Amino acid sequence: MTKRALITGVVGQDGSYLAELLLSKGYVVRGITRRASYPHTQRIDHLFKQYDDRDAEARFRVTYADLTDSSSLQNVLHEFQPTEVYNLAAQSHVGISFETGESTLDINAIGPFRLLDAIRSSGAKDVRFYQASSSEMFGASPPPQNELTPFLPQSPYGVSKVAAFYLTRLHRIAYGMFASNGILFNHESPRRGLNFVTRKITYSIAQIIAGELDRIELGNLDAKRDWGFSGDYVEGIWRILQHTEPDDFVLATGEMYTVRDFLGQTFGLLGLDWEDFVTITDRYRRPAEVPALLGDASKARRVLGWEPKVHFGGLCEMMLAGDLAARGFTLEQARTKAATLTPKRGGA
Ligand code: GDD
Repeated sequence: MTKRALITGVVGQDGSYLAELLLSKGYVVRGITRRASYPHTQRIDHLFKQYDDRDAEARFRVTYADLTDSSSLQNVLHEFQPTEVYNLAAQSHVGISFETGESTLDINAIGPFRLLDAIRSSGAKDVRFYQASSSEMFGASPPPQNELTPFLPQSPYGVSKVAAFYLTRLHRIAYGMFASNGILFNHESPRRGLNFVTRKITYSIAQIIAGELDRIELGNLDAKRDWGFSGDYVEGIWRILQHTEPDDFVLATGEMYTVRDFLGQTFGLLGLDWEDFVTITDRYRRPAEVPALLGDASKARRVLGWEPKVHFGGLCEMMLAGDLAARGFTLEQARTKAATLTPKRGGA
C-alpha cells in the first residue's frame, strides 16, 4: 500500500527536508501551509518542479490549512486520507514567544490538540502521528538531557511544547492512537530561518564579505547548545513513525558548544577574529534563558538505529559555504577577500 504523509509546516526547514526524504521513499506527500502575503515556498519550489503540483494525482501537493482552524484540518484529513501525519508547524522562535505568548500557545499547544482530535474524530484507526517536540522543554534542567529528564521550560514557547508533548502522550494512552514525540535538540542547515542564531551568523558573515554589513548584533553568547543538521534529523523523525510502537525519542548529537564557539568556528574558517565584527546588545537577550542543552540520544541509537552524520565543524562549514555561494563566493575566494578587510572597531 502506498504510504500517504501529511506534513504541517512543509514550507519550513524541517518540512522541506522531510518532504524530500519521503518522496524519495515513494510516499505521496501533502503539505499544508497558511496563506502568506509574500511568497514563502522557496524551500520547496524545487519539489513543485520535480513532482508537478498541478496534477491532481501528483505525488507532492500543498494546500491551505491552519493549525488554528479545526475545520481546515478536518477537511484536509478527510480529503487526503493520510497514513502518517507529521506535525512540524509552529511558532518556532523562542525569543519572539515572549512577545506573542498567546498566539504561540494557540498554534503550538492547542494546534496539535486540534489535529489529534480531528484524527481521532475521523475514525481512522491506523493513522500514525508525529509531534515535533523540542529540547527547549528541558529549559533549566541541567545537561545531559534524555527522555527521563524533567521538563523545566523557560519560555512561552517551551511551555507550549510541553503541553503538546503531554497531549500527544495522552492520545496514545487514552485512545490507543499511534502518537509519538521526537524531542529534537537544535538542528540547523543552509535552509535555517534567518533569525536563529546560527544562520544569522553565517548569513551576516557572507554579507560582511560582500561589503554589505560591518558588524553583527547578538545577545547572549554564553548559551550552550547541541547543534545538529536538519537533514539528519528528518531521517530520525521518519524512523520514529516506522517503529513497531508509538514512543518518545530524543534526537541529538551529544556534543555541546556555546554561541561564542559557533562564532569562533565560522569566522575562523575565513581567518577572521569574530571579536572584530560582533556587538553585544540587550536587544537580543531573553527575559529567561535556557543555559545549556546537551542531548543523550542513546535510546534512538539503540531502538531506531539512528545516528547523526554531520557534526559541529561540518555543520558550520556547510552553512557558511551556502551563504557565501548565494553571494557568489567560494570559501577560498571569501578567505582572500577576508584578508583585505579592515574591521570597524566599536561595540562591546
Ligand atoms: N535567535 C537569536 N538571535 N539567538 C541569539 C542571538 C540572536 O541575535 N544572540 C544570542 N542568541 C542565543 C539565544 O539567546 C539562545 O540562547 C541561543 O542563541 C540559540 O538561539 P536560537 O538559535 O534562536 O535557538 P533556540 O535554542 O532558542 O531555539 C531553537 O531550538 C529549539 C530546540 O532546542 C529553535 O529552533 C526552537 O524552535 C527549537 O525548539
